[in-house]
Amino acid sequence: MASAIVLGSLSATPGAAQKIEGLAPTPPMGWNSWNHYGCNIDETLIRETADALVSSGLRDAGYVNVNLDDCWHGERDGNGNIQPDPERFPSGMKALGDYLHARGLKFGIYSDAGTQTCAGRPGSQGYEFQDARRYAEWGVDYIKYDWCNTGKGDEQRNPREAYRTMSRAIAASGRPMVLSVCEWGDNEPWLWAGQYGHLWRTTGDIINCWDCTVGHGSWSSSGILPILDQQDKLRSFGGPDKWNDPDMMEVGNLPTLAENRSHFAMWAMLAAPLIIGSDVPGMTPEITAILANKRLIAINQDPLGRGAMKWIATPDWEIWAKPLADGEWAIALLNRGDEAQSISIDWAAVELKDDTFGHRAEFAQRSYTLTDAWSGKAAGDTQTALTRKVGPRDTAVFRLRPI
Ligand code: GAL
Repeated sequence: MASAIVLGSLSATPGAAQKIEGLAPTPPMGWNSWNHYGCNIDETLIRETADALVSSGLRDAGYVNVNLDDCWHGERDGNGNIQPDPERFPSGMKALGDYLHARGLKFGIYSDAGTQTCAGRPGSQGYEFQDARRYAEWGVDYIKYDWCNTGKGDEQRNPREAYRTMSRAIAASGRPMVLSVCEWGDNEPWLWAGQYGHLWRTTGDIINCWDCTVGHGSWSSSGILPILDQQDKLRSFGGPDKWNDPDMMEVGNLPTLAENRSHFAMWAMLAAPLIIGSDVPGMTPEITAILANKRLIAINQDPLGRGAMKWIATPDWEIWAKPLADGEWAIALLNRGDEAQSISIDWAAVELKDDTFGHRAEFAQRSYTLTDAWSGKAAGDTQTALTRKVGPRDTAVFRLRPI
């Protein structure tokens, strides 16, 4: 971690947040246990997942963070030190961190700003500095910090104070750790969380359906389209070291390959963190190929760090555009519906302007070559109109390079 310490720097402003800068210049990539396993995690599963990330090539594609979500915790000891569940993690967390680091992976952990986590394990409220110190001893590189059991109404904990406190606790621990803010977008985190953390959830939980919302009493979870539909208005807030997080991926957990492709393509376009939420040891070759597609990943990891904007929208299909470094663009043709769609772009007749960040494609003055991001095949240039048939719930993606 010596290099990360050199890379990361503390804010020098007195009284300001102590966020360690420079830890997430591009959207974080990795795996998280929650979407597929829920509370059913143990050290064998984490090690097998780590091994599968390596053997499948996903680590080398960039998925380096191995993040344990809720339910790794045991009780605090007599000194208030948090301990792992002794039955599920008998070798301890330092050993698990060492196992991950020895394989070129990073170690992520989960806690909560309240008295208990969402699944009722010990929360970090009042223990922030002690917990961060402990995580640092274990070699933790990434903390997802949740918002359950933080009080109700006037009694609720102030979210800025809570995330600032954990950010300071991380700085005081001496170990650079990414802070993933998870208060579900409830307190407009895009306005403040970038001072304290490197990414923030923009919505409630994702679920593995295309276009549904599922109620659970006091909260609900949403499928791919309802989450996607909440992102465009937030694009101005995201960028290097401060990412909008539309939640961990359900790629591999959706029923059809087209849906899995579209979900991945759109999260890549949004400059979303790419956190795999499926069964890695049991992953099919088709899903691995989607997640490891190096052209889609390059669009996501582009150093400019802009999220895509919804460029052209009809009820059935949309075209999203993401400005890339060096005047390049990525264009996604998303078919939301259940019928195949023939989608066309007459380059001579359209204007592609990103007024928020001041990017502009000059189709009248210069032409761009097109590469199909899924296949890598050349797909003509902007001298000729593009027409592509896109299957139900599928997404075509092109990279445009100025000639
Ligand atoms: C939720 C969070 C999920 C998961 C879960 C664990 O609040 O949004 O991503 O971490 O808690 O209990």
